[in-house]
Amino acid sequence: MAGALHAHPSLLLLALVISPWLLICATFLAPVAAAERASYIVHMDKSAMPPRHSGHRAWYSTVVASLADDSSTDGRGELFYTYDDALHGFAATLSASELRALSSVPGFVSAYPDRRADVGARHDTTHSTEFLGLSPLAGLLPAAKLGEGVIVGMIDTGVWPESASFDDAGMSPAPSKWRGTCEPGQAFTAAMCNRKLIGARYFNKGLVAANPGITLTMNSTRDSEGHGTHTSSTAAGSFVKCASFFGYGLGTARGVAPRAHVAMYKVIFDEGRYASDVLAGMDAAIADGVDVISISMGFDGVPLYEDPVAIAAFAAMERGILVSSSAGNAGPRPRSLHNGIPWVLTVAAGTVDRKMFSGTVTYGNTTQWTIAGVTTYPANAWVVDMKLVYNDAVSACSSAASLANVTTSIVVCADTGSIDEQINNVNEARVAAAIFITEVSSFEDTMPLPAMFIRPQDAQGLLSYINSTAIPIASMSFQQTILGTRPAPVVTAYSSRGPSRSYPGVLKPDILAPGNSILASFAPVGPTGLIGQTSLRSEFYVASGTSMACPHASGVAALLRAAHPDWSPAMIKSAMMTTATTIDNTFRPIVDAGSIVSGNGSAAAASPLAMGSGHVSPNSAMDPGLVYDVGPADFVALLCAANYTNAQIMAITRSSTAYNCSTSSNDVNYPSFIAIFGANATSGDARFSRTVTSVGAGPATYKASWVSSSNVTVAVTPATLEFSGPGQKATFQVEIKLTAPAAPGGEPAFGAVVWADASGKYRVRTPYVVL
Ligand SMILES: *[C@@H]1O[C@H](CO)[C@@H](O)[C@H](O)[C@H]1NC(C)=O
Ligand SMILES: *[C@@H]1O[C@H](CO)[C@@H](O)[C@H](O)[C@H]1NC(C)=O
Ligand SMILES: *[C@@H]1O[C@H](CO)[C@@H](O)[C@H](O)[C@H]1NC(C)=O
Ligand SMILES: *[C@@H]1O[C@H](CO)[C@@H](O)[C@H](O)[C@H]1NC(C)=O
Ligand SMILES: *[C@@H]1O[C@H](CO)[C@@H](O)[C@H](O)[C@H]1NC(C)=O
Ligand SMILES: *[C@@H]1O[C@H](CO)[C@@H](O)[C@H](O)[C@H]1NC(C)=O
Ligand SMILES: *[C@@H]1O[C@H](CO)[C@@H](O)[C@H](O)[C@H]1NC(C)=O
Ligand SMILES: *[C@@H]1O[C@H](CO)[C@@H](O)[C@H](O)[C@H]1NC(C)=O
Ligand SMILES: *[C@@H]1O[C@H](CO)[C@@H](O)[C@H](O)[C@H]1NC(C)=O
Repeated sequence: MAGALHAHPSLLLLALVISPWLLICATFLAPVAAAERASYIVHMDKSAMPPRHSGHRAWYSTVVASLADDSSTDGRGELFYTYDDALHGFAATLSASELRALSSVPGFVSAYPDRRADVGARHDTTHSTEFLGLSPLAGLLPAAKLGEGVIVGMIDTGVWPESASFDDAGMSPAPSKWRGTCEPGQAFTAAMCNRKLIGARYFNKGLVAANPGITLTMNSTRDSEGHGTHTSSTAAGSFVKCASFFGYGLGTARGVAPRAHVAMYKVIFDEGRYASDVLAGMDAAIADGVDVISISMGFDGVPLYEDPVAIAAFAAMERGILVSSSAGNAGPRPRSLHNGIPWVLTVAAGTVDRKMFSGTVTYGNTTQWTIAGVTTYPANAWVVDMKLVYNDAVSACSSAASLANVTTSIVVCADTGSIDEQINNVNEARVAAAIFITEVSSFEDTMPLPAMFIRPQDAQGLLSYINSTAIPIASMSFQQTILGTRPAPVVTAYSSRGPSRSYPGVLKPDILAPGNSILASFAPVGPTGLIGQTSLRSEFYVASGTSMACPHASGVAALLRAAHPDWSPAMIKSAMMTTATTIDNTFRPIVDAGSIVSGNGSAAAASPLAMGSGHVSPNSAMDPGLVYDVGPADFVALLCAANYTNAQIMAITRSSTAYNCSTSSNDVNYPSFIAIFGANATSGDARFSRTVTSVGAGPATYKASWVSSSNVTVAVTPATLEFSGPGQKATFQVEIKLTAPAAPGGEPAFGAVVWADASGKYRVRTPYVVL
């Protein structure tokens, strides 16, 4: 992210990631000192359970007890979770010899060490719902009754139940299928749930097992960090009037599905996050009866059969639950995304048409000039006709001492490349106001004094005015929010890119959603603003990242679930993908901030490896015309074609009887295409077969159109599909042929196949990528 500011770590939350080396090192039977215990996630074949056991819990306890290692000096293996919905198995602390003994127990499938992740945090919505075109008057929002009756399960850092976003005025009671609970704990009582926040549970046994004796900052579902409060209020927060972050982004805040219920499953604690806890949270969410699972974190570089999100999402899919996840914030590097799981929705982050943190500098005596600046100063300071200072002695702003004689002025700091240091120095010197000349164009950190950033090209006029005026003066204003920014959306540079490492044969990410400068509720625990040396707290916070994009997509999925209770998760996903827009608010292709040509300033059109099918378009998704449906068995065929072992497949499917590899296919009925021929390939031929189901009213005729790019030939047969009515299916083939290198320098070539119906109402778009 060229020119980006690395903000104060405590105030920025990146999508939660696990460092890749931890995972690569973590393999079954990893060397463990003889008597030293470690936590393991164990998959079992429940069909092998001896009938004498009253249930899976009893069986697993017996299994763990039977492993007892007499030579062990540190007690016995301890079982701390049993799983039954996301997977069949348990988590336990085992010694190396116990682990060896376990592998010969009848019914054993696989085991691998629990994974710890250092939560790399960066703050990964008043206006984004309007930007999505969601209006209470027409379209998906009223058709879905604002999400009424739908439950969104959040797998996150917990929730701040007192936040106005969880006020339940006007909410209906939890649906009768709800089996969740409101678990009491530290600073959290069962009475803190209501008709909006219907469930609150926390899972930290994996964390505790790996760190015996640990003291937790918050041993309950209460959010001590802010991330989970932000994501859950974004997905399904109630209406909150006059929400703002210290005056920025003022408006009515609401979640994407404002009448949906929220159930929080806290699996991330300040002290860490473990795969066994994530599995336990998702296991509970499935059992409790949520409709959509939203998970703004992922595990980097893990195979599907050891990825808790992939494992739990498979079981969720079987129950009709859609899992929506964040792509990660490791872009624009190719192959940087996580959650590239074929059966989940993988969400990339885009900008919205709002400049959140704006201010202005007005200078000049008789003629006045205005410069737009960027600032988060949390108050409207009185900076009027104040003297400007810019000279060799002070302009570097390199120490507080150097500014001792100019504290009553507006100090202008030159671009030295050390913006963090300059802010600290100016604040320490207690200068009245400051202007920082910098290339940094977005900023979410605290600005402790009345100050703002201006761009070098805008600074020239200001500097010559100062130079040519005896007593130059300026005024500054803060807390401005500018709407109608163009172009928007833009794919953010940090949004992680495909192809998926865990399954490159399915194009990822799937979709782009608002993720930049999103205002939503926050846990008012830590300081989110600073004036001088005084910390400020805010109940709302502005954050950026795919963590913020994911709950937007989850909210849209919740609305679609309400509008179409009979649709499978794959149909909901297909509707979102095939109707996504690839055009921005300047009517040009959505561009990719990650591709900015240096010194050029303009960005190239975003490829599907950056934004998937395009920007989510909820109102169109309500009525997509055709859908690409796909079920669990089709994904198993994909795993079979990838030559996964039976144990690996069973870790995902839990059952040796429900699925088998009699069908094996690397072509799944997905609403996108990816053909990987390899860098510099000069020829290649990829064939895809797809089946679409009509979900429009009445008979329809669709005709295909497609774009072939240079050296890539696309053919669709048949090119016309007839449907006599809803529910009817039709199959077609797509062939992508390479005749010479697709694009220079190994860049992807991309385009789309579009089915348009004769009435002109529907446009069903599927992107393709050739690599
Ligand atoms: C957290 O709270 C639960 C319930 O009160 C308690 O059983 C558990 O020991 C606590 N864990 C820690 C690490 O404090
Ligand atoms: C501009 O205004 C300031 C403050 O009113 C005054 O001190 C200064 O002399 C003026 N400069 C010119 C060039 O008029
Ligand atoms: C501030 O002004 C005093 C008195 O004119 C002078 O001695 C001192 O060097 C100045 N300090 C700086 C940092 O310019
Ligand atoms: C300031 O004015 C002097 C003399 O007019 C000129 O040489 C210099 O380039 C100017 N500096 C700026 C930053 O405009
Ligand atoms: C600037 O970038 C655009 C888009 O990638 C490209 O078409 C154009 O040729 C570039 N111009 C220069 C001078 O590099
Ligand atoms: C799977 O195994 C078959 C047979 O050995 C082989 O042809 C195929 O290329 C393998 N597929 C993958 C994805 O490795
Ligand atoms: C595989 O599954 C299919 C569908 O459930 C079933 O018809 C077939 O008999 C199974 N084959 C084996 C070898 O189990
Ligand atoms: C593709 O060609 C480029 C330029 O000739 C070369 O640098 C690169 O190593 C090649 N890549 C592969 C995978 O052969
Ligand atoms: C198409 O192939 C030709 C011949 O190899 C090559 O010169 C050209 O750059 C390719 N087109 C693109 C868009 O890469």
